[in-house]
Amino acid sequence: MIVAPSVLSLDYKDTKSQLQQLEESKAEWMHFDVMDGHFVPNLSFGPDILKAFKSATSLFMDVHIMVDNPSEVSDYFMKAGADLITFHSETVHEIKNQKALVEKLHANGVKAGISIKPDTCVENIYPILPYVDLVLVMSVYPGFGGQSFIEASLDKIAKLRKFIDTNHLNCLIEVDGGINATTGEACASVGADVLVAGSYVFKGDIKAQVETLCFEK
Ligand code: DX5
Ligand code: ZN
Repeated sequence: MIVAPSVLSLDYKDTKSQLQQLEESKAEWMHFDVMDGHFVPNLSFGPDILKAFKSATSLFMDVHIMVDNPSEVSDYFMKAGADLITFHSETVHEIKNQKALVEKLHANGVKAGISIKPDTCVENIYPILPYVDLVLVMSVYPGFGGQSFIEASLDKIAKLRKFIDTNHLNCLIEVDGGINATTGEACASVGADVLVAGSYVFKGDIKAQVETLCFEK
C-alpha cells in the first residue's frame, strides 16, 4: 500500500519538524490539495507552496486539483514540481477534452489522474481509465479534512478494481477522505492501491499513524 499524507492537515506552526517526521515515516507520497473556492467551498495552496515542499522533501508529489479550470491550473503546478496531477471528471466533461489534458500532462513528464466526487458514478470515467495512471475515489465531499468516510465508496473501489483487472489496465486506485486504520483496511480489502490521510496522520504521531496504514497488498 502506498500512503499519501495530505498536508492540508499539517500543523503549519511546526512545518519543519512535521516534514522531518514525514520523511522518516513509511509514506512514499505527499498529497497536496489545490482548492479554488468555487469547485469546492474552500481555498488552499498555490504553486509556490508546492515548490517549497518539493525542495524540502524527496516525497513523490501527488497533486489533487479541485478547481473549475484544471487545464490552466495544471500548468502552474507542473512547473512547480508536481509528479502526478489528478483533476476532477466533473470539471472536464467530454472524453476528448479529458484525453487532451492527460496528453498534455504526459508530454510534460507528469503522471495523470482522474477523480470522482461521491455523487459521481464510476461508470462515467471508464472511457478515460485506459489513458490515466491513477483514479481517485473521493470518499468524502471534497473541500475539507476531518470528515467521515462514506461507506458507499467501497463499492466504487471494488467496481474499479474489477474493471482495471479485467481490462489489464495500468491504473492505480487512490482513496481520499476519512481514512483511518479501520476505513483504510476496508479500502485495502476491496483493492485500493493508495490511501490519502490528512487528519488521521497529522493529529497523532506521524510515523506511527502512517505505519498503521501500510497494509500488505
Ligand atoms: C478533501 C481533500 C483531502 C483531505 C482529506 O477535499 O481532498 O485530501 O485532506 O482529509 P482527511 O483525511 O482528514 O479526511
Ligand atoms: Zn485530496
